[in-house]
Amino acid sequence: MGAGGVKVRDLHWDDFEPLANSYLALYDERDAEGTIGISLFDERPKPSGEVAWFSDLYRRVLEREVIVAVAEVDGRAVGACTIAPAGGSAPPSETSHVGVLGILVERTHRGRGCGRALMERALAEARGRFERVRLGVFSTNPRARQLYERFGFRSTGRWVGEIRRGERRIDLEWMTLELPPGDGPKR
Ligand SMILES: CC(C)(COP(=O)(O)OP(=O)(O)OC[C@H]1O[C@@H](n2cnc3c(N)ncnc32)[C@H](O)[C@@H]1OP(=O)(O)O)[C@@H](O)C(=O)NCCC(=O)NCCS
Repeated sequence: MGAGGVKVRDLHWDDFEPLANSYLALYDERDAEGTIGISLFDERPKPSGEVAWFSDLYRRVLEREVIVAVAEVDGRAVGACTIAPAGGSAPPSETSHVGVLGILVERTHRGRGCGRALMERALAEARGRFERVRLGVFSTNPRARQLYERFGFRSTGRWVGEIRRGERRIDLEWMTLELPPGDGPKR
């Protein structure tokens, strides 16, 4: 058990409901504040879409294609960090050595170390499986950016005005962490 009663573990099938709900709650957050750093669909997805997303994620974890670390507090999933190969589920390719990182912690559990604990676990698993991890961070999300810098991510470019949120245009900054081959456990 880590700081703040956070336990980080593998993905379980039962995590569907809490993880889908924390994702769907981002649609309310976007309307209220607009600062969250994940690009969303124009319309809130239907529950059936979330079932399809989760089943696919679970399958890909079982096939060791995707890394998922889950943060649990009081027996319930409150956040997750995923690292998936660039290029999606397509056959191995010239970009398969690159992992794309995504992270989300439920609003009421932010600022208590879940994000940091999730990154530690997911990046430890990524060593030996990916040679590079990259992510895109919104210019409106300094909290997330600071977290990534602490783990050694460095800025590799910025797409100005890439995100259209309501009347605003937000820059998307690319950040990359190199994980040299031979640095960590093997596949
Ligand atoms: C970004 C996110 C995952 C961070 O998770 P978290 O659990 O809040 O992060 P932690 O509590 O582990 O804090 C990590 C770092 O964030 C920063 N941070 C945390 N709380 C903060 C606050 N209230 N104000 C400013 N910075 C804060 C600090 O740098 C902290 O480092 P520290 O441990 O040395 O203080 C979370 O805020 C989130 O899910 N946001 C919405 C989704 C999103 O934007 N995802 C990012 C996609 S790129």
